[in-house]
Amino acid sequence: MKYNFDEIIDRKSTASMKWEKYKGKDIIPMWVADMDFKAPPAILKTLGHRIEHGILGYTITPQALNDIIIKKLSVLYNWKIKKEWIIWVPGVVCGLNAVCDAFGDQKEKIITTTPIYPPFLDVPANCGKPLVTVPMVNKNQRATLDFDRLEKEFKNNASLFIFCSPYNPCGTVFTKTEINRIVEMCAEYDVVICSDEIHSDFVLDDNKRHIPTASVSKLSAQQTITLMAPSKTYNIPGLGCSFAIIPDRKLRQKYQNRLKGLIPHVNLLGLLAAQTAYEECDEWLSQLIAYLKKNRDIVFDRVNRMKGCKLNPIESTYLAWIDVRDTGLKDPVLFFEQAGVGLSDGIFFGQKGFVRLNFGCPRSLLNKGLDRMETALLDV
Ligand SMILES: Cc1ncc(COP(=O)(O)O)c(C=O)c1O
Repeated sequence: MKYNFDEIIDRKSTASMKWEKYKGKDIIPMWVADMDFKAPPAILKTLGHRIEHGILGYTITPQALNDIIIKKLSVLYNWKIKKEWIIWVPGVVCGLNAVCDAFGDQKEKIITTTPIYPPFLDVPANCGKPLVTVPMVNKNQRATLDFDRLEKEFKNNASLFIFCSPYNPCGTVFTKTEINRIVEMCAEYDVVICSDEIHSDFVLDDNKRHIPTASVSKLSAQQTITLMAPSKTYNIPGLGCSFAIIPDRKLRQKYQNRLKGLIPHVNLLGLLAAQTAYEECDEWLSQLIAYLKKNRDIVFDRVNRMKGCKLNPIESTYLAWIDVRDTGLKDPVLFFEQAGVGLSDGIFFGQKGFVRLNFGCPRSLLNKGLDRMETALLDV
């Protein structure tokens, strides 16, 4: 079956976070990371049947769902996990906050890198712990970790490293060497790693592959909490469904204690959608990736030809992290909004002079947005 990612679906009046922001305005929303594609038909069918059944009661995690995740991680990454390592939570950000709260005392530092998905910058404040940010470095047109600076910070009373792999917003897919290095450093200074791998299914560079942080060695398994979800991949983020994988018993216990009584179970529809996604939607996903690769090529080519804009090759995600410093624009987001395109402001990711463009949308809409940006920049 050929899936139609070109279809334009009207999301106005659906209380969509992405589209409501510019309600009544001729601004194409290309900011928050959800895609303007329908979820896979198999998921919609499952949800439809369940709604028709009519009783939406308390639900337990289906055994088949954990089984399919165990199988999937083994097939994709040769990562052998056990059922009891999987802990379901209604969102990766929720899991991230629980981790930050559960690990380290109030004086110990939480380390992350910038630019970064904005909630990473909020979580330490949410739990009253100090945050230290280490800027990524650009090497050969690729954003990567600054190991020397990270090591300095790990040494200095740090308890936790919150890591995004693959990397939102820069799109980096980390190599085994890079992951091993970060793992060894964290082990040396007794720093727990929380590895947010929500974008792991979106590797767009054919020469790269995602490697789960916890899968590289025994050492990494012992000190890593992995956060994953079907939400980005199958465009079901509104269903609030994600899971942590924690091989180490002590870490797992701490995390679970933090969830108790405060964090609700994943809802029925989220669990059902996740199970169908992993059981029945491989073909949909491979067609989606092929579509996104073409969108990525268009964005890369067109943005790099726009006056004052620079974009590194995008290894993963459906997000383009655009360097607009050479445009001289004081407020690039406002400028592009006035041109009819709504982008995310780099400031919220901890890096001024950049904007993030979401290309997870039908190609005609993408080209329309890029046309608007290009035309507006001609007058700068
Ligand atoms: C790196 C990263 N983590 C987490 C999330 C959100 O996850 P959730 O909706 O499950 O809280 C996003 C969404 O854009 C993301 O990019």
